Amino acid sequence: MDKFRIKGPVQLKGVVNISGSKNAALPILFASLLIDELVEIKNIPKLKDINITIKLLLELGVKIKNGKSLKINASHLYKNYNLPKNLIQSIRASIWLVSPLLVRFKKINLFLPGGCSIGKRPIDLHIKNLKKLGANINIKNNYIIASIDKNFKGSHIIMEKNSVGATINIILAAIYAYNITTIDNASKEPEIKDLINFLNTMGANIKGAGTNKIIIKGVLKLKGGIYTIMDDRIETGTFLIAAAISKGNILCKNTNPKNLGIVLKKLKSAGAEIKTGKDWCSINMTYRKLKAVNIITGPYPNFPTDMQPQFTLLNCIALGKSIVTETVFENRFLHIHELIKMGANIFKKNNKIFCKGVKSLYSAKIKATDLRASVSLVLAGCIATGITIINNINYIDRGYEDIENKLISLGANITRIKNNKI
Ligand code: UD1
Repeated sequence: MDKFRIKGPVQLKGVVNISGSKNAALPILFASLLIDELVEIKNIPKLKDINITIKLLLELGVKIKNGKSLKINASHLYKNYNLPKNLIQSIRASIWLVSPLLVRFKKINLFLPGGCSIGKRPIDLHIKNLKKLGANINIKNNYIIASIDKNFKGSHIIMEKNSVGATINIILAAIYAYNITTIDNASKEPEIKDLINFLNTMGANIKGAGTNKIIIKGVLKLKGGIYTIMDDRIETGTFLIAAAISKGNILCKNTNPKNLGIVLKKLKSAGAEIKTGKDWCSINMTYRKLKAVNIITGPYPNFPTDMQPQFTLLNCIALGKSIVTETVFENRFLHIHELIKMGANIFKKNNKIFCKGVKSLYSAKIKATDLRASVSLVLAGCIATGITIINNINYIDRGYEDIENKLISLGANITRIKNNKI
């Protein structure tokens, strides 16, 4: 894997364009398997996870033109497709193949998606609820073996726990189902709303996007069309933190601040000056003191777990003590060990991170472990004194488009060292 060499400390300031949302683009790409006409998707971020998804779609026989936008035609799929294990297992999102492929082929035999260092990430809620919609599903020798008769059947589903992924699989299954499907305690994440907007644009009949009750009336056919993916709210939040911890000021363009409610609120509590407009938001931290703030992660609209490592970093160099409580992923703490190597005064007990702010961090040789942990370490490198080397940096390419060039344009001093040549 590649390494980053980062020289700090720097003040990060300037303007950054926010890319399309990874977590909206992935389910929308898999949902395009439900449509046998031309679909054009704009604002697709250039990311490793997206490339893997495109490869999976190509393996299935989907015709794709990858230019300024992505033109997808899933009208003819290969009946004897053979999806490579390494592709399926390298992204969690491949679980969203289950419903569309059941709709198209009535029978599937798929590798389980891979595990992940932030937690076990079971798929019991996907399985249980797809069964409720009429699927026969079993897991055998790491394969998902499933079938449906003619079609999924609408049903009343009560999610016992918030799950973005399971809510999405149920929606995808219910699009062409007989009758109506109701999902109570559905996830309300903006990315799910974006998926629903996409599906409705293509002719689906889904109500309740952005609420915890989603009602899907089965339709006979989806049509082709053009859709623009929403902006990546987690990328925006990450750049806001970059400015906050470096006493900088950053304007994020092409982003909807309405999706960042609690993150902006917590940044204000930390002492930042935040301004917002319809499609931008800015942060100013120059000559301001950073104060420690408690956060508790949870399903939207609570504090996003995907912003927890970045906010933990903020607390590491803020004035005072704080507690960060992680309620979504049981193992999303791998960044702590690396931050301690850089001088942070933090420790973990159960699902809480206890932190006492220090004046500054210093450089170290550290290791990235997952996407959001990696970005928090890159930001830590930008504010630490000296030269920080971060190993295994490729995780960051999974979810941040052009991260080093965006940070360099804001004043960071980052070099990518390819293939461990240092
Ligand atoms: C999605 C996002 C991820 C984000 C997460 C929570 C994508 C590609 N990923 O992941 O970035 O951090 O939402 O906002 O969109 N769970 C079960 N059983 C299941 C499914 C989930 O117990 O069948 C648990 C998980 O282990 C986790 C919690 O439910 O503890 C939430 O997971 P979920 O919302 O499903 O996350 P993902 O869809 O995997």
